[in-house]
Amino acid sequence: MKDLKNQNNPMENIDDWEDNLKERYPDPDATVKEKEEFRNYVDSERLETVKEFYRINHLYQTYDFVCSKEEEFLKFDKKELSLWEAVDFLNTLIDDSDPDIDLDQLQHLLQTSEAIRADGHPDWFILTGFIHDLGKVLCLFGEPQWAVVGDTFPVGCKFSDKIVYPEFFSENPDTTNPKYNTKFGVYSPNCGLDNVKMSWGHDEYLYQIMKNYLPDPALYMIRYHSFYSQHRENDYAHLMNEKDVEMFEWVKLFNPYDLYTKAPVKPDVKKLMPYYKELVSKYLPEKLNF
Ligand SMILES: [Fe+2]
Ligand SMILES: [Fe+2]
Repeated sequence: MKDLKNQNNPMENIDDWEDNLKERYPDPDATVKEKEEFRNYVDSERLETVKEFYRINHLYQTYDFVCSKEEEFLKFDKKELSLWEAVDFLNTLIDDSDPDIDLDQLQHLLQTSEAIRADGHPDWFILTGFIHDLGKVLCLFGEPQWAVVGDTFPVGCKFSDKIVYPEFFSENPDTTNPKYNTKFGVYSPNCGLDNVKMSWGHDEYLYQIMKNYLPDPALYMIRYHSFYSQHRENDYAHLMNEKDVEMFEWVKLFNPYDLYTKAPVKPDVKKLMPYYKELVSKYLPEKLNF
């Protein structure tokens, strides 16, 4: 990621924002020593770049911006890739800032899915863990970090102050637009999240690619895994319908696998591949349009 670093991409590594997540939502099962090690790891310089990342994310993610990205990316005319080619492609996002601690993207995906498998969950849940971050290929299409990762949140209505660094929304033009700055904005009470536009990023993008192939709980996990102001803070229940409430139990179940299974132990990719090849071909077509 180093060569992509510029004003638009303040973070050294696209996953640095997840350190901030773990500060906000610490692993309840972590030992005191692990917590201490983690705190030492999150040095202040890194926190500053994450803060700058959120500043520009909150500044630029407007209702109109999301509409323009949907227009641009939901035509799926960028690249035709097999799932495996997409994994390889994503894995070119290799971090070189701290090779002892950071895992590459494939390893994060495998650690997440292997933890889900170890707990005896259904195979589509394992597959979801394995693919959930593939939407990050947006970075390789030249998209800035703030339009790929970070907490997601609804646009088109008032920004919740439960979203990380809510003060940065004061610079977002939607904050002063009467069309978008009320509790419901362009939406109606309990209209259902399917009718709500979320800030643009890897979650929504991958959901749109996968929506015909996986069961509803899997699609909710993919689409809303970064929606912390709901799945952790429950601050957007007024937009949710009954199905959303039911499905968010799956989103909540998924979150700890995503957030807390990043141990610096590398999974044995070669040994695991045959299982995943079969799993992928059970649910997904040969080629996917990105
Ligand atoms: Fe993610
Ligand atoms: Fe993830």
